[in-house]
This record gives sequence, C-alpha cells and structure tokens, in this order.
Amino acid sequence: MTAYPAIASTVDDLRRRVSIWRSDGKTVALVPTMGALHAGHLKLIEEARNRAQKVIVSIFVNPTQFAPTEDFDSYPRTFDDDVAKMLPYGVDAVFAPNAAEMYRPDFATGITVKGPALGLETDYRPHFFSGVAVVVAKLLLSALPDIALFGEKDYQQLLVVRQMVRDLNIPTEILAIETVREDDGLAMSSRNAYLSSADRVTAARLNVELRAVADTIRAGGSAETALKAARAAISEAGFRLDYLELRHAETLQAIDLDADKDLPMRLLVAAWLGKTRLIDNIGV
Ligand code: PAF
Repeated sequence: MTAYPAIASTVDDLRRRVSIWRSDGKTVALVPTMGALHAGHLKLIEEARNRAQKVIVSIFVNPTQFAPTEDFDSYPRTFDDDVAKMLPYGVDAVFAPNAAEMYRPDFATGITVKGPALGLETDYRPHFFSGVAVVVAKLLLSALPDIALFGEKDYQQLLVVRQMVRDLNIPTEILAIETVREDDGLAMSSRNAYLSSADRVTAARLNVELRAVADTIRAGGSAETALKAARAAISEAGFRLDYLELRHAETLQAIDLDADKDLPMRLLVAAWLGKTRLIDNIGV
C-alpha cells in the first residue's frame, strides 16, 4: 500500500471524515504521536492497521506537556518525512492541528490524574501528565476511535492514559504495544536523535542495567542489592540518574522490594546523558 493519507488540520475536518467512515460501518484506530516518527511509531501504525479498517495518525507537538526549560522549540518537526514513512501502511488520515486549533487563547481546562501519575516522572516533570492527559483526551474526543495505541516505552504515560480513559468513560480501548529497540537494546525514541555519537554508544547501557536487575530478581537474588549496583553502574557510565525504581506493574506503587516477589513488577528508569533525557522500562 502506498496511499497518501488525507491531511486534517482541524477537529471539524477530522470529525467529518470519521463520521463518513462510521456511517459506512468502519472501525477506527488512532495512533497519537508528536511526529519525528521512528520504527517504534511505525510498529504502532502497523498494529493499528492490523486491527482497524481506518487508521488515523495524529502529529502534534503538544506545548502543554513541556516545561519552559524543556525542548519544545528544538523538538524535531519532520512532517513530510513522517508522512512518507507512513505510506507503506496505508494510513487513512493524518490529524495535524496547530497549537491554536488545540488551545484557544482562553483555554481554561485541566485534567489531574493521580494514581499511576504520582511519583517517578511527576517528581521530575510535574507538568507532564496534566499536559498529556489534556491532549490525549482532546485527541480521543475529536476522533472517537475504537482503539488507540500507545508504546510501552512510555510505560507510566500508558497507565495514566488508561486511568483517565476509564475514569472519564471515554469509549476507546487503549492498546499497549511493546517497545521497539535498536540492535544494542536502546529503546527507540525521537530524542535519541539528540545524542552525540559517543553518548549514543553509552545510551545502550541503560537497557543493559535494567536487564541485569531483572535477571537477578528472576533468579531469586536481592532486588535491593541489584538496584543499588545498577544505580551505581549507570552513574559511573556517565549518566545523571533521575530514578531507577522497581514498582507494581499495574499501579506503579512502591513495593516491599525483597518481600513482594509474586507481584507483577516493572523496572523503570530515567537518566540524562548530557542534555538528553532517556527513559526505559521492562517487565520483571
Ligand atoms: O508519547 C507521545 O508521543 C506523547 O506524549 C503523546 C501521547 C502523543 C501526547 O502528546
């Protein structure tokens, strides 16, 4: 398939297209993105294509999820390349609103998610999940898709979106798609493009350390000791660590590290290499 997608830049235009599909009885999937598409996004699009008759990809670099000190201005914007990368998947529509379409000057609504939004990312980026929640709610309510697909790479975001969708009765099923990785294990991310070639080599250590901790826990070793060793190794490799934590996989609540061994667990990390912040996580 190499069909060129329709480009909708307003909510009205998107809704018009979706309502035509709906009157034909078609199912609809949405893949929300901020553009700068990489293989991880393409996997989401491929999975969407396999699961629904109509596929929408949204491209919107959402200002409300960036703090003033963060990389909103420099975030890669590669619209033409992004659309070219979608062609093999026969995406039906790209929703690409501008900031004024999404946030009128008098925009005055916020969404605060607690539960899985507490701690981890929120300790370092307190603005982040309220920005994500608002924009994802707006995207879902604009497209009203049957399903929306999110990568597990942003694991806390995935749980926050699920919580919000359940709490607000948004009639969309949220599907989680496994993280796509480079050959050396580095999780694909649009921000990897910021890494110098030396930092790109070091970046792979993050996943190596996650797997080492997971292996130790699976083999019955001490989670506490393994986490300490991995935190030290990550710092020695040249990262500035924000957090490396083992949490309950469904609630992200803290667990008693060496007592609660039968719970579903997730290891989550965020660390800086130079000016680039990397996150990753794996199931244990
Ligand atoms: O994961 C992302 O790319 C963004 O946070 C999302 C979900 C598209 C909301 O802006």
